[in-house]
Amino acid sequence: MSDVVKYSISGDIAVVMIDSPPVNTMTREVRAGLKKCFEALRGESAKAIVLACAGRTFLSGGDMREFETGVQEPGYHEVLRLIEDSKVPVVAAIHGTAMGGGVETAISCHYRVAAEGARLGLPEITLGIIPGAGGTQRMPRLIGLEPALDMMLGGKPLTAAQAKDAGLIDAVVGGDLVEAALAYARDLVAKGAGPRRTRERSVAGGEKVAEVIAARRAQAAKTMRNRNSPNVLLDAVEASVTKPFDDGIAFERSLSIQVERAVEGRAFRHLFFAERELRKIPGISADVKSRRVTRLGIVGAGTMGGGISMCFANAGIPVTILDVSQANLDKGLATIRKNYERSVTRGSLKPEQRDQRLGLISTTLDYAALGSADVIIEAVFENMALKKEIFAKLDAVAKPGAILGTNTSTLDIDEIAAVTKRPQDVIGLHFFSPANVMQLLEIVQCTKTAADVVVTALDIAKTIKKVGVVAKVCYGFIGNRMMDPYGREAERCVMEGATPQEVDSALEDFGMAMGILAVYDMAGIDIGHLTRVARAHLLPKDPTFYRPTALLTERGWLGQKTGRGYYRYDGADRKRTPDPEAIAMFAEEAKRLGVPQRKPSKQEIQERCLYSMINEGALIVEEGVAARASDVDTVYAAGYGFPRYRGGPMFYADTVGLKVVYDKIMEFQKALDPQYWQPAPLLKKLALAGSSFAQYQAEQTR
Ligand SMILES: NC(=O)c1ccc[n+]([C@@H]2O[C@H](COP(=O)([O-])OP(=O)(O)OC[C@H]3O[C@@H](n4cnc5c(N)ncnc54)[C@H](O)[C@@H]3O)[C@@H](O)[C@H]2O)c1
Repeated sequence: MSDVVKYSISGDIAVVMIDSPPVNTMTREVRAGLKKCFEALRGESAKAIVLACAGRTFLSGGDMREFETGVQEPGYHEVLRLIEDSKVPVVAAIHGTAMGGGVETAISCHYRVAAEGARLGLPEITLGIIPGAGGTQRMPRLIGLEPALDMMLGGKPLTAAQAKDAGLIDAVVGGDLVEAALAYARDLVAKGAGPRRTRERSVAGGEKVAEVIAARRAQAAKTMRNRNSPNVLLDAVEASVTKPFDDGIAFERSLSIQVERAVEGRAFRHLFFAERELRKIPGISADVKSRRVTRLGIVGAGTMGGGISMCFANAGIPVTILDVSQANLDKGLATIRKNYERSVTRGSLKPEQRDQRLGLISTTLDYAALGSADVIIEAVFENMALKKEIFAKLDAVAKPGAILGTNTSTLDIDEIAAVTKRPQDVIGLHFFSPANVMQLLEIVQCTKTAADVVVTALDIAKTIKKVGVVAKVCYGFIGNRMMDPYGREAERCVMEGATPQEVDSALEDFGMAMGILAVYDMAGIDIGHLTRVARAHLLPKDPTFYRPTALLTERGWLGQKTGRGYYRYDGADRKRTPDPEAIAMFAEEAKRLGVPQRKPSKQEIQERCLYSMINEGALIVEEGVAARASDVDTVYAAGYGFPRYRGGPMFYADTVGLKVVYDKIMEFQKALDPQYWQPAPLLKKLALAGSSFAQYQAEQTR
């Protein structure tokens, strides 16, 4: 027997037990162990077999590392076939989170029982691939065409109860799972029930396959724009009806290899592996220990302070919020309460959870109350003098070793840290709005920030279920710094005669969650404008620079909050609609400033916005503001609505080809304002060497 898969005989029943910590991934060793056991069991007299896993979960899924190496022998099909071929009934005993290959194994068994808390999913689509171990052929046979499509196109796991309703499992059991599975198997033996092979079933609902697949294709074109894997998945599932099982399996296999190698599949995997790199910070050794965090202090009960407080209360960590007046505290708390209330109404939060979370949040007007906090996060107005004043006060009351964080988006945190006697404990913790929802946390490592403070911040991100990416101090850090040229080009295109709708549509067609001008309307047009006013002395001497936003601010058209900005929002549904007055205002201003009207095409809008962003990303990588190009990709995928199927801006640039990006930038240097089109030295070097950001990263980390 193998180290990770063993069998034992209990009475008439064999138990095959997989024990491959931490999550019973279907590695080559596990497959080889299963093969050995099921081959050996042919010679045993057991009348039924239970397949179960030790530890916290049933088989959690395939081995992602094999995407790079190719699947090693024995392959999934061979092993699953062996299980399905068993002459005696095989019962899968499922607990924890069975995903992908784990579920494909379970449905190759003849019967399935699951613990109450179990979840079962085929999430391959969320990685740009399709189930490739028979899932597309067996699942429709097991639960019917439409339910199988829902499961595979949605990618969300089913609870045990939902799986039972769907017919995916036969029983939900309480108590000891293996005991329950054994009892189930004994019962099968007593009833004389033999193997029940999924592959021998026909697909319920299969008679309507052509119309069902066509409808799903049309829907996927709308909801999963620019993506190919949903179409491939539909091809594979269609074959479960139109082809015999073995042909269907062969077809699935060829399609599966095709999507794994395609850009989309590689992009998702890139982001998956990029997240695993985030904790590797140059100069910080892997054995640095985190500081203990059991109590939080927040300064500022506004939009961000409230949202950040919720993040911690949601994780069970008590929070004390300080503001300047009781009225501000009450207002902040009322917003928090309203947010929780909304979750309760929606059914995503139980009333007792709401009460428990609210119970963890207290308020104060007295700095002394923050003295016991392990971490204090400042989220007051974006004003350097104010932040310095607050950090001096925090320095006076915070206990030794407490971490002092700031949520500033733009200010120099080194300068803030310098007012304290403990700059080693100061760090940027840049949350995104709404803080309780957005996934990204930019962790800004200042010149003097101690290594264990950075590590603690990374752990905090994990505790509050965010993606923590470390950046160095610079204007805008990683995310907002790259947004600057991106937005600049979008606004310049407006000055050149593109309508806001044309600009935003071009970006949304590329796959951005929302066009940048609509984003400005949502965030408040004045926000960006005011930061530019504060930094006017540092900005380019260009009267067209972010001019549309300035004009809108002057008019008081501040976006959604005033009902109009780049668009109008006065319909009953408050959806954006073009605003001819705003468009005329931009045209008039362009005329006044003598901006040539060139009506940039969709492709030009996309290239200008994205390539200027990528160029800034190259500078950020070169300067070490981001430790890796893949960190930049994580920031954009987690916090800026960059399409995951394109892998983030730097990965995307690699897929376009850096030489293509570079040549285009040089072309823009001639055709447009040359001050903005200076290729980053790193981009130029890699482009001319025929290299890529990925290759550069691999060389840097070697
Ligand atoms: N809103 C965003 O989208 C966003 C995103 C990321 C970062 N930020 C940053 O977060 C910070 C806060 O932004 P916000 O949008 O929450 O602002 P806000 O105006 O909603 O809230 C600021 C809060 O700080 C309080 N405050 C002001 N002076 C104070 C003082 N001396 N002591 C204690 N409390 C004081 C105010 O009463 C108010 O409740 C800013 O630095 C901002 O740049 C904002």
